[in-house]
Amino acid sequence: MLMSRRIVFVFLALVLALGGCQLDTGVKVIKMGHAQVVSHPVHQAMVFLGKRLEEKSGGKIKVKVYPNQQLGTERELLELLQIGSVGMTKVSAASLEAFSPEISVLGLPYLFRDDAHITQVLEGEIGKELLLSTEKYWLRGLCFYDAGKRSFYSKTKPIATPADLTGLKVRVQESKMAINMVRGMGGSPTPVSYGELYTALQQGIVDAAENNPPSFYNSRHYEVCKYYSIDEHTAIPDVVLVSTKVWSELSPEEQVWLQEAADESAVYQTKLWKEAVEEALREVQKAGVEISYPSKEPFLEKVAAVYAQVFQDQKQLEALVQRIQQTKK
Ligand code: GCU
Repeated sequence: MLMSRRIVFVFLALVLALGGCQLDTGVKVIKMGHAQVVSHPVHQAMVFLGKRLEEKSGGKIKVKVYPNQQLGTERELLELLQIGSVGMTKVSAASLEAFSPEISVLGLPYLFRDDAHITQVLEGEIGKELLLSTEKYWLRGLCFYDAGKRSFYSKTKPIATPADLTGLKVRVQESKMAINMVRGMGGSPTPVSYGELYTALQQGIVDAAENNPPSFYNSRHYEVCKYYSIDEHTAIPDVVLVSTKVWSELSPEEQVWLQEAADESAVYQTKLWKEAVEEALREVQKAGVEISYPSKEPFLEKVAAVYAQVFQDQKQLEALVQRIQQTKK
């Protein structure tokens, strides 16, 4: 399975050749790959980004969006951006951890006070620094998309307290921070790519996972996991990125159009998000999922140990966490 994925990946890398190619007609087409399904609000936002860029450029630049891991997992997509075979992507900030230790900070549990705090941090200086922190690895962040809050879902029982995670194999994103977080909460973390998670849950390779409501719903994981416990342990945003190879081939004017189109798509995505969360919760409940709202206290009690473990490995994150905590309006 792993082998065939790798072959397909290398094959695609060769076939795709260039992430932003100029056709004979003089029209530039930027390939944008991502891991989500088309019904998810982030896909709709990326299509909107393409539409706005096409309008701003008078039809000279187009974006072709490839959903569903068609071009690779988030990790593979980032590698394809680095070599310029794919021009743009949208990944979870967790997937950027290998390229920017700073950005992994967003995966710390209960890092933000509330939604306003998230906006203040991501739209302020820290957000700008984080978006550009991967540029030295040929990945330029353009904007954040809202990815709400992540909560546990399980095949066997509600997760009312961290003790319920004991003995459970919990799927995590391919991120050391996520591994530390779930281990610190008491579960056994198992990294699996998003596109392979449905089968992993179905076959019992993992017993549980965690995500925001639109992803839980659109990925159809709710068909297998009938318990969704809204503990909202993390608020990891998504990031829209462009390969610096493609970015540097754009004229200054085209760069402005792309940045504006990305920013406008982020505003659009935020609007879609709230509705998508409500719809997801309504639909999964209709499908027989038991939704619970556990007290956050016992989860918060585990946080200090998780932070201590993370700071032990990455001392430099301590100052960044302090800056985030001190961020106010
Ligand atoms: C969220 C995020 C995706 C990511 C997924 C995951 O849905 O938006 O980019 O792939 O989480 O858990 O892997």
